[in-house]
Amino acid sequence: MPLKTVNPTATKAWEKLEKHYQEIKDQKMVDFFAEDTSRAEKFQLKWDNFFVDYSKNRINSTTKDLLLELANEVELKDAIEKQFSGDKINQTEGRAVLHTALRGSEKPQAVEETLQKMKDFSQEVISGEWKGYTGKAITDVVNIGIGGSDLGPQMIVDSLQYYRNHLGVHFISNVDGDHVMETIQDLDPETTLFIIVSKSFTTQETITNANTVRNWFLKTAVKEDVAKHFVAVSTNLESVKEFGIADQNIFPMWNWVGGRFSLWSAVGLSIACAVGFDNYQSLLDGAGKMDEHFQTTDFKDNIPVTLALLSIWYNNFFDTETEAIIPYSQYLHKLVPYLQQGIMESNGKSVSRDGNKIPYQTGTIVWGEPGTNSQHAFFQLIHQGTKLIPCDFIGFKKSLHGNKEHQDKLMANFFAQTEALLKGKTPVQVEEELKDMDAEKASTLKPFKVFEGNKPTNTLLIDKLTPETLGSLVALYEHKLFVQGVIWNIFSYDQWGVELGKQLANGILKQMETKDFSQPQDASTQSLVKEYLS
Ligand code: F6P
Repeated sequence: MPLKTVNPTATKAWEKLEKHYQEIKDQKMVDFFAEDTSRAEKFQLKWDNFFVDYSKNRINSTTKDLLLELANEVELKDAIEKQFSGDKINQTEGRAVLHTALRGSEKPQAVEETLQKMKDFSQEVISGEWKGYTGKAITDVVNIGIGGSDLGPQMIVDSLQYYRNHLGVHFISNVDGDHVMETIQDLDPETTLFIIVSKSFTTQETITNANTVRNWFLKTAVKEDVAKHFVAVSTNLESVKEFGIADQNIFPMWNWVGGRFSLWSAVGLSIACAVGFDNYQSLLDGAGKMDEHFQTTDFKDNIPVTLALLSIWYNNFFDTETEAIIPYSQYLHKLVPYLQQGIMESNGKSVSRDGNKIPYQTGTIVWGEPGTNSQHAFFQLIHQGTKLIPCDFIGFKKSLHGNKEHQDKLMANFFAQTEALLKGKTPVQVEEELKDMDAEKASTLKPFKVFEGNKPTNTLLIDKLTPETLGSLVALYEHKLFVQGVIWNIFSYDQWGVELGKQLANGILKQMETKDFSQPQDASTQSLVKEYLS
């Protein structure tokens, strides 16, 4: 069954939220805290190893009730059930959306078999049993893929650096030849294994990069050696075979797993190689736990639903355009670029599920960098700029290497930022601070030192960065984006918007080869291409 079509702005809840917004929009969160001493407890969620504080938001109990009403009115529960039960909710592509089936406790037979194959393969590579063409063990693994076939595995491998083994794991994604050469120039073809990951196996960047790398490999090896150094993950078995990959080296994917949700499938092979299969399994288990929480927990206590509703509140009522995600862990420095694909490729849509142009705002722009670095970069704008930017702060109670001094300093900053964003600094406080200064100077300086505060944040405090908690965290954001897509009445699981550029690039490539400029083209692009060729 398809997802239902409900215009969110035509619901009763939306109308009430609009009225409610007028009442609350200028109110101060500090006053909410002063009026209600139990506010922090009221707006927090505890689940497994997660503690989520969302009390520093511009909401009160009515806001929460109305947002929940909205979720019910758009029949969110029905949408979740349809996703989990494999209904073809990716309607424009006629596909089910079942990445959750890759990490549940009861997996389909084909998934179990693929996991076993990944386990055997990764163990052979890690143990050195898998030999290269000169009989040496593998030292380096290179993942060749782009978008969902790169960002997910790369982010997880980086995030789980602490759990890594001796293998060097590298990623080639961009069709930029310099990127390819920089990655392979120090590698030894005798001990390097390439994993070509492409769901379609037609992606220009990946196929070009794979061919370049194979040619590089064949400078020292012969065709028969390819089987020992190239494996592939794809749904397009025919093209993989044509590329020359041996049958036993093909790991399947399924069309019910979207590219940006595919790290849980054999696309995660480089992860299994980098951290071992048991850690990869824990990652899946963590995601599976979050799936269960999302599917079974009442919306009022449901973490992805709560965060999604808050995001809708700001995006559609406060008219915020962006959200920042700030992990206080350097390990998570690739988390935001990864989430950008998930969130923006999914919800960057302007046509509703019934095919009409949408008159309200959808997909949020997400961005961010780890703290504390970001405090010394763009935080000025969040604190004192003209834009309201809701932020998610993600931190861990325990560090992995156990350096308490660093961990305490890191986390002191983590808490201080959300406190500063909440409270700001009042003119009276600034006056007090400047009381010893010359009066005229102090009054000139005062307006620059005032912080308005009242900037919303969510704090996700997680016990420790482990494969399992990371799996839960990633699944949390996947479900959050789905909830938002359901409410915005869009299809979150297609991505037609990326096709036009691909088509035009093919045309321009032809133009470069043939120097034929007779096809209609805008004057700007044409003069640029001519300049490039000159
Ligand atoms: O261009 C967008 C996209 O289709 C993504 O959705 C996908 O993750 C990426 O390209 C790579 O696609 P493939 O795995 O088929 O090479």
